[in-house]
Amino acid sequence: MSKRFYITTAIDYVNGQPHLGHAYEKIIADVIARSRRALGEEVFFLTGLDEHGQKVQQAAQAEGKSAQAYCDELAASWHSFVTKLGLTNDDFVRTTSARHKEVVQAILAKLHREGHFYQASTEGFYSTKEETFVTEKERLPDGTFPAHYGEVVKLSETNWYFKLGTHQQWLIDHIEVNPSFIQPDYRRNEVLGFLKNHTLEDLCISRPAARLTWGIPIPFDPAYVTYVWFDALVNYVSVPAAMGDAGIRAALGLQPTAVNLQPPAWPADAHVIGKDIIKFHAVYWPIMLKAMGLPLPKQLLVHGWWQKDGAKMSKSTGNVVDPVAVIDDWGLDAFRFYVVRELDIGPDGNWTDAGFAARYQAELANGLGNLVNRSLSMLKRYRSGVVPERHDELAPDAAKAAADTMTHLRASELQKALHSIWTLVTRANQYVDQTAPFKLAKDPAQAARLDEVLYNLVESCRVLAVLLHPFIPGTAAKIYAQLNNTGTPDKLALAAWGGLPPGQTIGEPAALFPRRDAPKP
Ligand code: ME8
Ligand code: MG
Repeated sequence: MSKRFYITTAIDYVNGQPHLGHAYEKIIADVIARSRRALGEEVFFLTGLDEHGQKVQQAAQAEGKSAQAYCDELAASWHSFVTKLGLTNDDFVRTTSARHKEVVQAILAKLHREGHFYQASTEGFYSTKEETFVTEKERLPDGTFPAHYGEVVKLSETNWYFKLGTHQQWLIDHIEVNPSFIQPDYRRNEVLGFLKNHTLEDLCISRPAARLTWGIPIPFDPAYVTYVWFDALVNYVSVPAAMGDAGIRAALGLQPTAVNLQPPAWPADAHVIGKDIIKFHAVYWPIMLKAMGLPLPKQLLVHGWWQKDGAKMSKSTGNVVDPVAVIDDWGLDAFRFYVVRELDIGPDGNWTDAGFAARYQAELANGLGNLVNRSLSMLKRYRSGVVPERHDELAPDAAKAAADTMTHLRASELQKALHSIWTLVTRANQYVDQTAPFKLAKDPAQAARLDEVLYNLVESCRVLAVLLHPFIPGTAAKIYAQLNNTGTPDKLALAAWGGLPPGQTIGEPAALFPRRDAPKP
């Protein structure tokens, strides 16, 4: 059985409502998942929720709810968010589920048995906001800790620690030998710099149950619950294990499940994460896997952070982008298109409402939408909607766009793929201007030439539907429907020129992206 392409997102803390950053990460992962399916691969795409920890316990307390009731309520709204974004996730993990807890406890028991843990008492500083201990070294000259940690409190307690000392060198070697393990390169270099210039401190993997109850009990010591990051990272293997992945179950000493007809998923092909959680994924997670005896993920794909109007998004100042409101106003595909087109995977981005409206108007309404609408409308008007004989004038342009798009999709270069697709949008729009079918239509001697031009235009629209499907699936389906094509444009092999059968009568053209007035200042 060949392995499935396995892609994940970070799992979100359920201490608030989803925002643009969460939407962005999920859409990137969805576009990659859809691309791989379109390339003919079997895919397993996982997203979900990180429900334990002090941060969630405190948020529940603040609302006067039990932690479980609080999580259940928010989980319902996060789950509907996934639907709202049009995600094709194959599963949705909640870290409070029994299937997840079982695997976390199996891992803890195994690592304990094999001598990876020890107990020690320490004094330290803790950031609840980031659910992490903060070291003295991070103190700023004025004695405070960096603002992103929020409130930092002093804790002195006894905990369980995971020995990391023996892992530092092989991890450096692994990152050096596998340049694609952490992408983009500048993130990889940051991790290497950190690992080469610091001695890793052992990782505290427990929290006293006296202080924090909202966590997975440590199986070998009931006085503790599991540190939320140790719990959360395990989601990437707990779900495949629950589904029967034999490699994971064997490594963890879990009984095989009765039937398992699905090809294995682990190791993950890509963990899509934001830049703020790279240390957990590039340092702790590989070490945890190594200790478990499991192979490492192939890639960490690290995206940047969105700001709004040049400032950090923050609920307290009201400076947020609500993805649901944007989708309700402009449509899902306009939103999916914008975030992928605007921001390459890596650097930070800046959302402005004017920037969004400008891209909508230029690229979707006037670019793609206008091309499809005028191509189909002219076929309707001049040829009663009947597709003429095949003609190959734009075939080389379409073939180049398709080949480049596929190359970029294989490399998860989503913004570049959109650039390649838009070379065909632009070329076909130019072709309308150059060939002027509205003039040809007035001259009966040009009837054969008009047939050629119309075929090239409508076939280009069909190819575009195929190439765009991973990004804006609803629009791709609309183009196919307007062409009266059966099936969905969900395989990239369909991008080969000449798929539109001569003699087929197309359906009704309708605007894909209606033009809109500029937003009021
Ligand atoms: O960190 N722009 O959860 P989280 C882009 N539970 N991405 C953003 C963003 C922004 N403004 N704000 C947040 C956690 N993100 C942990 C993860 S994984 C085993 C556990 C991204 O809800 C952030 O970088 O704080 C992260 O990848 C994801 O949203 C979830 O963040
Ligand atoms: Mg966060």
